[in-house]
This record gives sequence, structure tokens and C-alpha cells, in this order.
Amino acid sequence: MTAVRLEQLATVAQVRAWRRSQDANVALVPTMGYLHEGHLSLVREARGDGGKVIVSIFVNPTQFAASEDLARYPRDLQRDLRLLDAEGVAAVFLPTPEEIYPDGFQTTVSVGGVAAPLEGAARPGHFAGVATVVAKLFNIVEPDRAYFGQKDAQQLAVIRRMTSDLNLPVDVVGLPTMREPDGLAMSSRNAYLSPAEREAAPVLYRALQAGRLAYEGGERSGARLREAVAEALRSEPLVFVEYVSVADSASLRELEAAEGPLLLSLAARIGSTRLIDNILLP
Ligand code: PAJ
Repeated sequence: MTAVRLEQLATVAQVRAWRRSQDANVALVPTMGYLHEGHLSLVREARGDGGKVIVSIFVNPTQFAASEDLARYPRDLQRDLRLLDAEGVAAVFLPTPEEIYPDGFQTTVSVGGVAAPLEGAARPGHFAGVATVVAKLFNIVEPDRAYFGQKDAQQLAVIRRMTSDLNLPVDVVGLPTMREPDGLAMSSRNAYLSPAEREAAPVLYRALQAGRLAYEGGERSGARLREAVAEALRSEPLVFVEYVSVADSASLRELEAAEGPLLLSLAARIGSTRLIDNILLP
């Protein structure tokens, strides 16, 4: 095994010192680790845009509810470090929870309307956790650019809103969802799926495609588009649907008439695993 070249930074002070030593532009890719090709596509784009790339790996406890999968969230730091080193990443920030949330911590970044529906409704407090940690990462790293996936479309919208509202001097870049050959969106949580559940999971993307087909056939009723997706999901008995949404892609407000740029999104459980996926229309 070759030695890993990328710099491993554990503390805020180390990141600040590293940042000061860079004259080039710095790009940040925030992650929770257990990296897959979706994460690596962000890293490659960040590298391609020039400058040094720093990746954070931090399973952020404040974005998980007590009932959620924080304790069992998959981790493989050595593999992650090898992957990032092979991609030419300059540094990785690996803070402990205490480094990010020291004793006495009591500030939260709370985003309004765009964080309220969909994932915000299904996971109370989730986006406050995300917005707070991303604001901290922006302030710790002071990147010129930060890269996020369209896979988490509402997260991207929330981060764009926060960055704009708080005048954070970071260019937020959103990138397309990377998928397995059968259409399943790549996700660290796919590792939870049993073989039978993994076989059922591509129905999520097939159902979104059914929605796209209806839309392309001229359907503009939000209700009927949602029903086209829900019907396709019902073909798979292992899948329990949480929501299907046809929303304005910027405000995420649910639409009765599907005009303008749309986000077609869904959340579903397969066994004990909760998965989300989305496509943009037209
Ligand atoms: P995580 O789920 O590890 O995702 C890190 C980044 O990778 C996010 O921007 C996410 O949208 C992107 N990503 C995940 N799957 C993808 C795929 N299949 N294709 C393209 N991009 C994909 O999202 C988080 O971590 C956290 O909420 C975080 C932003 C790091 C804050 O804690």
C-alpha cells in the first residue's frame, strides 16, 4: 500500500493554518464519508475548476434525529483516504464532534420556507443541522467554491438560500446525480440494503421516469403527475412511499399546475432504509 499524501487536518486551527498557506483558490467538498462515485464526481469537478481541493468528512450528529441512523451510519476512513488521495485532493478535514460542537455550543442556522416541506417536514431539525454545519465549514475553510450534489436537491436549495441570505462569500456549485447502471442513485445508505431490497430499489428512479414520461406527454396536473409516480412505486411491494412531490424547483412549493422548472422528488423506505431521489423537469 502506498503512503497517503493528502494532508489530514483534525482541528479548526490546523485548517486555518493550511488555508493561510494556500495561494491558489480553494474548493471545498463537504461529505459524511463512506465515499462513492457521486462524492468523487464532486471532487473531480472541483479539481477541474482549478485550485486546491479540501474534502471534509464529518458525520454531523445534529442533522440526525434521535430515531435515525447516526450510530450505524457506514464508515470506512482508510478507504475514503485512499480514494481522495488517488483523486489528487490536497487536504481532508476530519474533525471530532467536540471540535465542531464544543461544550457550550448553542447557535443554530435556521433557514425558512425552502427548508420546511419535503425532507424538512419528514425530518424535523434536519436542515437546521445541515445549515449550521455547512455555515461552520464555510467559515472554517473559507473556500472560494463549494460543491454539492443535486441528489439532495432540497439540501442544495437550502444551502444556496443560506449562502445568499448570509452573504457568505462562497460560490455554491450544484452537480448532477450519479447513478448505478440500473438507475439507483448512488448513496452511502445503499450499503444498508439486503440483496432483495437492492433489487427492488431501482423502482425509485423508474417511477421518476414514469413521471417524466407523463410530463413529456403533456400532463401538467400536479396531482396526476404525483399519481403516475406513486403508481409505478406500487409495483414494488418492498417499497413504502413517504412522499411524492411535484414542486417549484426554486421555492420547493408544491404545485397544482406543473408550470416552470419543476423538482419531481420522492422519499421511500425499503425495509429499514430510507432513500430519496429526484429529477428536474423539463
Ligand atoms: P453526504 O450524504 O456524504 O453527501 C455529500 C455530498 O455528496 C452532498 O453534496 C450530496 O448531495 C452529494 N452526493 C451524494 N450522493 C450523490 C450522487 N449519487 N451523485 C452526486 N452527488 C451526490 O450531504 C451530506 O453528506 C451532508 O448533509 C453534508 C452536506 C456533508 C452536511 O453534513
